[in-house]
Amino acid sequence: MSIFIGGAWPYANGPLHLGHLSSLLPGDVLARYYRLKGEEVLYVSGSDCNGTPIAIKAKQEGVTPKEIADRYHAEFQECFEKLGFTYDCYTRTDTVLHHEVVQDVFMQLLERGILYKKTEDQCYCEDCNQFLPDRYVEGTCPYCGEQARGDQCDYCSTLLNPVALLDKTCKTCGNTPIIRDTEHFYFELSSLQHELEEYLTEAKANKRWRENAIQLTSRYLSEGLQDRPVSRDLPNGVPVPVSGYEDKKIYVWIEAVTGYYTASKQWATINKTDESIFWQEDTTAYYVHGKDNIPFHTIIWPAILKNIDKVPLPTHIVSNEFLTIEQKKLSTSRNWAVWVPDILKHYHPDSIRYFLTINAPENRDADFSWREFVYSHNSELLGAYGNFVNRTLKFIEKFNDGIIPTGELDLRVQARIVSLYDEVGSLIERTQFKKALEAIFNIIRVSNKYFDEQKPWVQLKENPKKCTNTLTTCVYIIANLAQLLHPFLPFSSEAIQKMLRVKELAWQETKIESIEIKNVEALFERIDIDRIAIETKRLLDKSR
Ligand code: MF3
Ligand code: ZN
Repeated sequence: MSIFIGGAWPYANGPLHLGHLSSLLPGDVLARYYRLKGEEVLYVSGSDCNGTPIAIKAKQEGVTPKEIADRYHAEFQECFEKLGFTYDCYTRTDTVLHHEVVQDVFMQLLERGILYKKTEDQCYCEDCNQFLPDRYVEGTCPYCGEQARGDQCDYCSTLLNPVALLDKTCKTCGNTPIIRDTEHFYFELSSLQHELEEYLTEAKANKRWRENAIQLTSRYLSEGLQDRPVSRDLPNGVPVPVSGYEDKKIYVWIEAVTGYYTASKQWATINKTDESIFWQEDTTAYYVHGKDNIPFHTIIWPAILKNIDKVPLPTHIVSNEFLTIEQKKLSTSRNWAVWVPDILKHYHPDSIRYFLTINAPENRDADFSWREFVYSHNSELLGAYGNFVNRTLKFIEKFNDGIIPTGELDLRVQARIVSLYDEVGSLIERTQFKKALEAIFNIIRVSNKYFDEQKPWVQLKENPKKCTNTLTTCVYIIANLAQLLHPFLPFSSEAIQKMLRVKELAWQETKIESIEIKNVEALFERIDIDRIAIETKRLLDKSR
């Protein structure tokens, strides 16, 4: 069985923040887990270098879109690497290959007759001399009356046509846009209503989508699918490959999601192999993103795949809710955000991965606060996990000359560890990462209690054989924790792996030979609680 994992494509127009990360991290957990299990895994994503967000940023700075894309693409790559993301291919949407693949997909859709041309009204700003990109028209949502941007109302989640907004303004200059007509290619989604309803019914029955994806997709379908324009008058992006229309660009709806396919082809080329095993009927395909990207993955991408005869449609939709920062909505424009390059300067990547998993916005919005972050590191990672590993290995270093004992395993402990692989594995496969990590940390707490109750320091004097057994059991737990935690906390797992000289990790019980360990080092360092005040102040000072 092959496993395809597609992470969402962040716009390369500014640094990554914790919101991006909390929605992308599950992808890496899945990829690492399935590789340990021995499955064929392809985990891909890339930087979205096309479209308005990049064009606007370039205009603001007076540089080319390519310069902006280059800068942030490089920064993204560095951040993902520091965080331990194991993409098999992390590419970008401005490559020659991607342009070719997208144009080819566009032509296939055109030949199928699922795209058609239509002239329609659009918002045009006479001050900026351009048709306004959807997101750059702002106004009042005609459905709920809240402030909305042109393509979508964040308040009631309705997909909008910017022309329909009330009290429209141009986001760039603040003037009222006029309505002018322009010809575009439309995706006849309405004709796929029935097929996509069936697809949703199946997804519901299999419980493979997050609840928010089921809800939102049901809503779009019950309101009836609307045909959508899939080309735009934009300066940058993939040109429509039809003569007379080359100035128009293929819109993000088709263009960005097709990146999943491009990336798989690019990976195949680089590795001199073939991507087809990841595009088979029995491939399991996870798509990992934030809730604002749900329709891309439950409507548009399935609609495309069906019309280019590719399988499988997404099997799992992993669409996190949002992460708030100190109880307030994250906002890049007001600089109310924790930026990934910043947090990586001072904190351990596993601390970030731990926090964003145990507090993941899986079913409802979750909050990041510096206080919780520091306390979760100090009490869970350092206080529970680090402490258990450290006290065991230090004890062996001190009282057993660093020789890992091979006594008798506590069979009850062993049984729990063995069953943990099934329990955690099944939770990960069903995308319940938070519960999976909780189950492991539960065992860590039990293990600390075991150490306290056995009192190896007393056993050492009164019953050395028992002491040997206790330590054998504790080292066994540690070696297995390194494997169980590898998808979540790869850096500390690797540190243990090195100390215990575990050659290869796998998703099954492991035992440690009697080796000599030296220079046991703490897995984590305590974060000074003064950091809470420092970081909170910094966040406030920088916000607008
Ligand atoms: N870069 C776009 C966005 O952030 C598109 C993401 S498309 C996806 O909204 F396929 F990657 F989700
Ligand atoms: Zn609304």
